[in-house]
Amino acid sequence: MAVLAAVRQQYEVLPYPPRDPERELEELRQPAIVELPRILEAVWGGRRQIDAAFSVLDAGCGTGDNTIFLAEQLRGTGASVTALDFSSTSLGIARRRAELRGLDHVRFVQASLEDASALGLGPFDFIVTTGVLHHLDSPDAGLRALRSVLKPDGGMGVMVYARYGREPVYEMQALLRHLAPRSLEPAERLRILRSTIASLPRTHRALGALLSTPLFRDEITSDAGAYDLLLHTQDRAYTVPEIYDWLEGADLRLQEFSVPRWYDPSTYLRDGRTNELPEAQRHAVAELLHGAMAKHEFYAVASDAAPVSPLASADPEAVPVWSAWGFGEKLAPALQRPGDQLRFSFGDERDVALGGDPLTRALLAGIDGRRPVAAILDAAADVKGRPSAAAVQRRWAEMAAALRDVGALAFQRLA
Ligand SMILES: C[S@@+](CC[C@H](N)C(=O)[O-])C[C@H]1O[C@@H](n2cnc3c(N)ncnc32)[C@H](O)[C@@H]1O
Repeated sequence: MAVLAAVRQQYEVLPYPPRDPERELEELRQPAIVELPRILEAVWGGRRQIDAAFSVLDAGCGTGDNTIFLAEQLRGTGASVTALDFSSTSLGIARRRAELRGLDHVRFVQASLEDASALGLGPFDFIVTTGVLHHLDSPDAGLRALRSVLKPDGGMGVMVYARYGREPVYEMQALLRHLAPRSLEPAERLRILRSTIASLPRTHRALGALLSTPLFRDEITSDAGAYDLLLHTQDRAYTVPEIYDWLEGADLRLQEFSVPRWYDPSTYLRDGRTNELPEAQRHAVAELLHGAMAKHEFYAVASDAAPVSPLASADPEAVPVWSAWGFGEKLAPALQRPGDQLRFSFGDERDVALGGDPLTRALLAGIDGRRPVAAILDAAADVKGRPSAAAVQRRWAEMAAALRDVGALAFQRLA
């Protein structure tokens, strides 16, 4: 319980992530894990329709990034969003953001997520919890508490820290536990953190690794981020096998990582050596091959939920939907000239590039979130050179697989 109090105090003093609610209307943040098409595909295979009974919980909502994006996507559907956090300062910021956007289908609850069931919250169709459970006294109990307010066919979107990529973080935390002990006030701990960073030799391995990783470098720039990263009182990280065990202990099973491509060993090793391994082992090997994962983001469902498979990309009635909002508008200018490509960057030669040839460009241009596969393929068959139906289908299958793999495209049946 002592740890819980310290964690709560931290988020009262330094709400996370740092957001100025008065600038809310300048930008809609779109965390990938709460993109509705991706959720609907991962949990219900793209066959679930949204109605007024649909309810979601953002557990440990902080200043509200997930809540706001979910509520925007569910606007006008009658569905509801519950945003829960034990920090009143964080909830105050999240509430003001929702108010400025006119999102009145969000209810805010100040409580510990461990008490979700006792408070009579839920059950929910979807529960998102990002950057929260690894700060709990007992992440196992926290996960079980959330599982207890999940509908039997519901799903969860979870982000927790990954062990290997955070090793430099833990080395710096170890140093700062000596220099800026928990007994000091947050402002004093931050002052020591800043002066320590400024004094370290340039050859310092852990600091060098932190500063060369954009995710960490960005965190260090704000007080809330630096404190969260390097001065947290309660913080643990998971390897892929630990994720599997953790989920099993709460009667959940992994459905899909939010970017499947990162967890596929063939992204890194092209010789097929890992093809025959069981899926859980392939995921574990991919984490070790990647070598720098700092977080795991995934969807999970109840262990006894019926298995669902996503709609086939060849299903003529399936509607492909870009998962990032606004992608459709960005797409047209990106593909105007012959040879123009759509790039999904992984930071090296594993980047996915699509769209150089006329057929691929026509197929990509056909994806508008409303048109079904049959219509997209028909229209694309008219491009110069009139490709055969088999060639169009082949190209479509390759493209759809690549786009799904990077979490950019999801397939749905529209009502
Ligand atoms: C690192 S922030 C993450 C915020 C948000 N989920 C995000 O991804 O941007 C962690 C949040 O979890 C909240 N939190 C931590 N433990 C909690 C608990 N047991 N019950 C409710 N909220 C908790 C904190 O107050 C804080 O706002």
